[in-house]
Amino acid sequence: MNTLPAIELCGVTKTFGSVIANKDVNLDVRHGEILAILGENGSGKTTLMNMISGIYYPDEGKIFIDGEEVVIKSPKDAFAHGIGMIHQHFKLVDLFTATENIILGIKDEKYNLKQAAESVKALCDRYGFELDPKKKIYEMAVSEKQTVEIIKVLYRGAEILILDEPTAVLTPQETRKLFDVLRKMRDDGKSIIIITHKLHEVLAISDRVAILRKGEHVATVDTATTSEAELTELMVGKKVSLNIDRTEPRDATPRLFVEGLNCLGHDGVKVLDNVSFTALGGEILGIAGIAGSGQRELLEAIAGLQHIESGTITYRSPEDGEDTDLRDKTPLEIRELGVRLSFVPEDRLGMGLVGDMDIVDNMMLRSYSYGKSFFLDRDPPKHLAEDIIAHLEVVTPSAATPVRRLSGGNVQKVLVGREISSAPTVLMAAYPVRGLDINSSYLIYNLLNAQKEKGVAVIFVGEDLDVLLELCDRILVIGSGRVTGIVDARTSTKEEIGLLMTKGGSDDGE
Ligand SMILES: Nc1ncnc2c1ncn2[C@@H]1O[C@H](COP(=O)(O)OP(=O)(O)OP(=O)(O)O)[C@@H](O)[C@H]1O
Ligand SMILES: [Mg+2]
Repeated sequence: MNTLPAIELCGVTKTFGSVIANKDVNLDVRHGEILAILGENGSGKTTLMNMISGIYYPDEGKIFIDGEEVVIKSPKDAFAHGIGMIHQHFKLVDLFTATENIILGIKDEKYNLKQAAESVKALCDRYGFELDPKKKIYEMAVSEKQTVEIIKVLYRGAEILILDEPTAVLTPQETRKLFDVLRKMRDDGKSIIIITHKLHEVLAISDRVAILRKGEHVATVDTATTSEAELTELMVGKKVSLNIDRTEPRDATPRLFVEGLNCLGHDGVKVLDNVSFTALGGEILGIAGIAGSGQRELLEAIAGLQHIESGTITYRSPEDGEDTDLRDKTPLEIRELGVRLSFVPEDRLGMGLVGDMDIVDNMMLRSYSYGKSFFLDRDPPKHLAEDIIAHLEVVTPSAATPVRRLSGGNVQKVLVGREISSAPTVLMAAYPVRGLDINSSYLIYNLLNAQKEKGVAVIFVGEDLDVLLELCDRILVIGSGRVTGIVDARTSTKEEIGLLMTKGGSDDGE
């Protein structure tokens, strides 16, 4: 095997106006290794990878492939050098099949689809992908689209693969499958660079970890000899103790009653099956479940965004104790009661922020889109934007910076901050820390706690059972659309919740 690094960066610097995204970065990736890149939101990970894959060109510095200096000015140049990047936002044509997307843009041979399909199948067999080459993109789940993107770069002969937060959109099971595929590629001699904020994933998949801090490369360590604590310290620059300050609920009072709720999905299949629970003001109610078990539909039903077959949702006003039936209300009317839904979907840019607008305008957007100048009466949007930037440590030159210039995680902080700070009475937060670095995740948990202490009924849908157990007061477990248990978060265990998660579906439910 080749002993020279597969790729080496020397003194790479990239600035955007006054922002130094990468500063004098020296880094190498070996043949047959998986290198994880770790760093806080806005530390320059994506920018660095974009320079290797030809999206940006460095201001200074050199890139070597197998010891030879190369110039990469376009994604095409990158491919010519065997580099392929799988971006967080997929670039596939919805109406085309997997195979058509994979060969798209390769002009040379005379488009032999049958031959292409065979090569795709061979790649699937070799690395253990599960993919139907004839399936159209619009029929695919996110994980299948990701598979298409990966095969697309392999088909073009990539020897160096870069994956930018591939697991942010995957369930733990899908992540395990992806990791198996990546290991096979590594054993095949390929070089893999993976970005993820989840430390346990870094430890599970990588051979070495490179840490970026404020655009600089501070260290590369061997995964076998490091720990979560060391990685966090390298990333943040100081020792950090991360803990969630859970208080006992005070004056918890019923705020939302859900009774016998049934909802059907697009295909007429039951997605919520006789769901009943009460959410209390002054408490955090966690929702745990395997992804796609009805969490989304439940929150959307409460927010008025989902058709309800039968059942009731009753809101009790914290001011006068009056009950309101939410089924008769429009989403706008439900919002006006103070019921807020912050759902971080798989496609973060598609979730109600306009990239070309600055942070302040995006604050106002929320109010305008609902036809009423909510913030204009209360919080001037500029103050709100500045508040969010300060509280959530958003990395941006100013509140006047267009959102599309922010890093992925910082965009998300703006969005989640907007919902949390809008004086809710019921705050539903689904996956609010997807794509956030560990420090920022704890800032969000603490904000949720602060809302609880103000008497807000907080409903938190999370993926990490450790966090659910530490943050919540009670945890509702959902399995195949049914409530399989509601447990006390202070006394329950991961094992108990895990068991309840797989329970739904059959008739052994309640
Ligand atoms: N096109 C651009 N114009 C202006 N600034 C940019 C641009 N792209 C990135 N930046 C800035 O460069 C810095 C690094 O951003 P980058 O996207 O590389 O961070 P990251 O480490 O990938 O963060 P995250 O974990 O949130 O994805 C940030 O301050 C960001 O705002
Ligand atoms: Mg990024």
